[in-house]
Amino acid sequence: MKKMAIIGGGAMAEALISGMIVNQFIKSEDIWVTNRANQQRLQYLETDYSVNTSYDYSELFLGADIVILAVKPKDTAAVMERIRKYVTEEMLIVSVLAGISLKTIELLAGKSLAIARAMPNTSAAVGKSATAIAVNQRVTEKQLKTIQRLFETVGLATFVEEKQLDAVTGLSGSGPAYIYYLIEAMENSAREIGLEQQIAKELIVQTLIGAAEMVKSSAKSAKQLRLDVTSPGGTTEAGVQVLEDNEVQRAFISCIKAAAARSKTMGESLRLELKVH
Ligand SMILES: NC(=O)c1ccc[n+]([C@@H]2O[C@H](COP(=O)([O-])OP(=O)(O)OC[C@H]3O[C@@H](n4cnc5c(N)ncnc54)[C@H](OP(=O)(O)O)[C@@H]3O)[C@@H](O)[C@H]2O)c1
Repeated sequence: MKKMAIIGGGAMAEALISGMIVNQFIKSEDIWVTNRANQQRLQYLETDYSVNTSYDYSELFLGADIVILAVKPKDTAAVMERIRKYVTEEMLIVSVLAGISLKTIELLAGKSLAIARAMPNTSAAVGKSATAIAVNQRVTEKQLKTIQRLFETVGLATFVEEKQLDAVTGLSGSGPAYIYYLIEAMENSAREIGLEQQIAKELIVQTLIGAAEMVKSSAKSAKQLRLDVTSPGGTTEAGVQVLEDNEVQRAFISCIKAAAARSKTMGESLRLELKVH
């Protein structure tokens, strides 16, 4: 890869920049970043990551073979209007814009382009994102490998059909927040049963990491692993029974379905707003 242009210099752009440089996907001097107006933020990215920054789009796009769109979905129209004359059919466009379809990007660009649409999550900031990616038919085999390697610099990367991205958003896109919610509950309970906050936090975090590792490395299902540690009349059974009585599993299922449904309606309203179909 020769050069990368990143439009948007916020949290997701920084996570990607950091992951790509640390994992030697691209050299910092080959990365060019711009944002809307926050010069201080660009200065910070230059200083901390040694990337180039510019508000001159001719300079930004000159010789770029990959363009990352990392602005908020509401800024899509303004950005596409601004970049359409600089984007060429040889460039690979990688979007992390939630809810903006491959077709919408192509229509707003006004030309046929190779586009990847990714749904990472906030754990990209620590290299542990679960990222699902959909691509359009113009993406070549070579570009597919590039896209996979790119998102593997911030965690796990897997390809899905575009229509599955709303489900992905509900499951893993918003997923970290569900786990934070669980941690919150565990921390609150620790206080109530008399455990010191710092000790409780360490125990909770390690418990989550350990359980996740068990699910990842074991051939057994999560359900089987749970049953294996639930002895009749024991402590785990007493606890899990309360979760069952309160239909917590059903609540989690409804939570994920609601987030996936919201992703779908948000995508539809963005399409209406952008006047593309
Ligand atoms: N953060 C996450 O964990 C996460 C997870 C999944 C997906 N995403 C997706 O990633 C995208 C970016 O999210 P974020 O959290 O990084 O947002 P953010 O921190 O708010 O950053 C947005 C960036 O876009 C820039 N921008 C806005 N309008 C622009 C324009 N017209 N031209 C050029 N740059 C412009 C902003 O510049 P100024 O500061 O100058 O306004 C800012 O640098 C979103 O679409 C989101 O859906 C994020």
